[in-house]
Amino acid sequence: MELIKDGKRLDGRKPDELRPIKIEAGPLHRADGSCYLEWGGNKIIAAVYGPKEAIPRHIQNPTRAVINAKYNMASFSVGDRKRPGPDRRSREISKITSEALENVILTEMFPRAMIDVNIEVLDADAGTRCAGITAAAVALADAGIPMEDIPVACAAGKVGDTVVLDLMGEEDQEGQADVPLAIAPRTENILLLQMDGHLTVEEFDRALELAMNGCQQIATMQREALMKKYQSFEED
Ligand code: CDP
Repeated sequence: MELIKDGKRLDGRKPDELRPIKIEAGPLHRADGSCYLEWGGNKIIAAVYGPKEAIPRHIQNPTRAVINAKYNMASFSVGDRKRPGPDRRSREISKITSEALENVILTEMFPRAMIDVNIEVLDADAGTRCAGITAAAVALADAGIPMEDIPVACAAGKVGDTVVLDLMGEEDQEGQADVPLAIAPRTENILLLQMDGHLTVEEFDRALELAMNGCQQIATMQREALMKKYQSFEED
């Protein structure tokens, strides 16, 4: 499959262009904080519960809160029905998401507590770990969890010998590399960096530059989504 033709990608995007993104803060009423995110063909719900007493007690940390992120793909979210329940991939994504979020949440304010972050992928089309972290960040802010910054994530990669921003499904399957990145956007401190495939050093630098830039664009959308919810409260 020809992934890049006349400088345009399969969905008509330029190499440095993001897919369309829509973010809604606080769609769920029972959760302490929530977010609904559409990002290209991805649809994701994030729900935050806590801080609350960590149970079972042996997981409690006397100096800080434990962040428990759980990434789950609905069985109908992918082409071939996915067997329900955790698998190696979802355990890995849950772990890296917990670790990324732990580095911006002021966990030491809540000793012995836990904060549950549930990420449900309803529809998947590549880049779901980045979309999950981005949605979780808005849900955490919506729950009023104190953080150094609102984390944000975006991937870049290589398709048809070109370094591109934000791979969609076919590009992810047929492409040459994928580099998911999560950052704290104010400092650009890296919270997550992975790489699948092969890139030269120059290509990697370009991918990182594109992904950083994508993250900054999405950070603005996260703030707008939160402002939209909380401004409407002020008007009531
Ligand atoms: O979603 P992300 O790119 O973060 O992770 P991945 O492991 O690179 O998966 C890429 C894509 O493959 C997912 O977004 C899904 O669209 C698809 N996938 C699938 O079709 N079936 C699975 N069991 C897992 C992933």
